Amino acid sequence: MKGYEPTMSFGEDVAGTYRDVQRGDEVAAVALLAELAGRGPALELAIGTGRIALPLAARGIRVDGVDISPAMVAELRSKPGGGVISVTIGDFADVPVPGTYRLIYVVWNTLFNLLTQQEQVRCFENVARHLTDDGSFVVETFVPAFLYRLRNDQHVDAEAVLVDEVRLDVLRHDMATQTIEESHVFLSPAGVRLNPVVQRYAWPSELDLMARIAGLRLKHRWGDWSRGPYSSASSMHVSVYGR
Ligand SMILES: C[S@@+](CC[C@H](N)C(=O)[O-])C[C@H]1O[C@@H](n2cnc3c(N)ncnc32)[C@H](O)[C@@H]1O
Repeated sequence: MKGYEPTMSFGEDVAGTYRDVQRGDEVAAVALLAELAGRGPALELAIGTGRIALPLAARGIRVDGVDISPAMVAELRSKPGGGVISVTIGDFADVPVPGTYRLIYVVWNTLFNLLTQQEQVRCFENVARHLTDDGSFVVETFVPAFLYRLRNDQHVDAEAVLVDEVRLDVLRHDMATQTIEESHVFLSPAGVRLNPVVQRYAWPSELDLMARIAGLRLKHRWGDWSRGPYSSASSMHVSVYGR
């Protein structure tokens, strides 16, 4: 997407819409992450508005965060408990924090917001430098199988058709670069609003090789946060890497 910058996807207009978003699997996600964190500390890469970090911190675990968007972090700060979380504004591929963590995690497909394989490998390598010897790196992403079902490598999905607004999801897939270019398009009497987002996806097997390059290995892979089996029917995976 010519001219695209990742910061465009998470500006002030979008941050408000993420404020109270819940996917429905947060309780299971936080339970699993808490178990892996033990006494902590934990670090969330791309912490956003704290959907996971806040309930994890509420269990008494120190949770730090990294995010590139001051607008998303401002939403986190405005929530109960959000004021005391240490957040570094920066690129999570750098893992720009001092010290080591028992748990580092990146969820909700956000690893794919790093737009090249090189960036994603760099993220794994920097994570490995900040993990304790018994630490876990948890990655949750979608499985790209749905891309096989696209016609002509694209789709337009009617997300909402209301009397005063239509919301469309417009997506194009480039298999050569493993890139998905997407925009959420809002049409209303007030005008047209666009929310572009680009992702560079990877199959779980490619992530496992990135981990090996970084000196980590796959310890667990589940098909959901409740430790359901990962299979060819899975649309997502939760993968745990460690030394
Ligand atoms: C879909 S939100 C997920 C937020 C949170 N992890 C959650 O699960 O609710 C993606 C977040 O990634 C952040 N982000 C995207 N690319 C980033 C990068 N390269 N470095 C740091 N943060 C980034 C965005 O600012 C946004 O807060």
